[in-house]
Amino acid sequence: MQALVYAGPGKKALEKRPMPAMSAPSDAIVRMTKTTICGTDLHILKGDVPTCHPGRILGHEGTGVVESVGAAVTAFKAGDRVLISCISACGKCMYCRKLMYSHCTTGGWILGNSIDGTQAEFVRIPYADTSLYPIPDGADEEALVMLSDILPTGFECGVLNGRVQPGNTVAIVGSGPIGLAALLTAQFYSPAEIIMIDLDDNRLEAARRFGATAVVNSSAGNAVETVMKMTGNRGVDTVIEAVGLPATFELCEKIAAPGGTIANIGVHGAKVDLHLENLWDRNITITTRLVDTVSTPMLLNSLRSNKIDPKLLITHRFKLDQVMDAYETFAHAAQTRALKVIIEMH
Ligand SMILES: NC(=O)c1ccc[n+]([C@@H]2O[C@H](COP(=O)([O-])OP(=O)(O)OC[C@H]3O[C@@H](n4cnc5c(N)ncnc54)[C@H](O)[C@@H]3O)[C@@H](O)[C@H]2O)c1
Ligand SMILES: [Zn+2]
Ligand SMILES: [Zn+2]
Repeated sequence: MQALVYAGPGKKALEKRPMPAMSAPSDAIVRMTKTTICGTDLHILKGDVPTCHPGRILGHEGTGVVESVGAAVTAFKAGDRVLISCISACGKCMYCRKLMYSHCTTGGWILGNSIDGTQAEFVRIPYADTSLYPIPDGADEEALVMLSDILPTGFECGVLNGRVQPGNTVAIVGSGPIGLAALLTAQFYSPAEIIMIDLDDNRLEAARRFGATAVVNSSAGNAVETVMKMTGNRGVDTVIEAVGLPATFELCEKIAAPGGTIANIGVHGAKVDLHLENLWDRNITITTRLVDTVSTPMLLNSLRSNKIDPKLLITHRFKLDQVMDAYETFAHAAQTRALKVIIEMH
């Protein structure tokens, strides 16, 4: 089968690989129909993810059809159309029982990281019963691909942890796919204002189309003053960090209103200054989270009843044999205006 393989920092290749084999009775083998590329795949290619070794098939998102199941799988059978969660969950360990699937002691984010992933014709899914979701009849598969990772991430780490409420003010720093997923799902709660902050005017334009009430280009360096002016010098009730840089987290610290919440989504590789000298008396909550994908069933319902339209995030489409072009397009978003790219198998 064809697969996109990480070949060490800065290197990747479309290779011929053997079909994945079942390695536990709780596994399923899935024939992929659609997948996509995540910002995290770009982090891996930079060499930022030490758990992902050269030779690994990348990808942790997508939809497919069950090819075969192990003897212990009871919820799925060959021929079922499935959504693949980016998080594999045994369903039984202490963390899974607390619904913290991301910290599953034998699972978590392993797909396309410590085991082969979804940017291939076939993939082995461990703990199939608790890591796959049936695709509802009539559902749009392209839209569903957005539910493997980015919608649950924006919703769980940003909107739920950030306690978005009706009538509240929200700022989202970073208008990439994850920030935009937080923007789409924040609207479940009807906040009064959602201010999107980014350096890229294309992405801010997308944010306006997706429901932002105001946008701020922070490249001029006056984002704090602008947001304070917009909010009558109060700041915002929920600030969602969706970039992963020291500068953007510190921006969040400066625009949180008294009683507010800073919900971090970004993956941080460097230390960040926490200005407790300014925050200690402001009743601020700071949250962090790795996506658990516990909200996937709820998001599937919302998608089915057209309460969200994640298809808005898809800007480009490729076939698997064009996956190298797909990476180029996705990695140069400032020029290509890419948000999410769909890779179709055939
Ligand atoms: N916590 C989790 O479970 C989880 C899951 C998935 C992704 N993530 C992380 O979420 C973050 C966002 O992911 P993404 O795929 O949307 O990334 P992305 O790189 O596509 O988007 C980031 C956006 O931030 C903007 N940006 C960069 N520097 C900025 C600055 N100084 N000020 C304002 N905006 C700036 C960029 O223009 C871009 O639009 C990443 O750090 C990613 O690794 C976390
Ligand atoms: Zn991802
Ligand atoms: Zn577990």
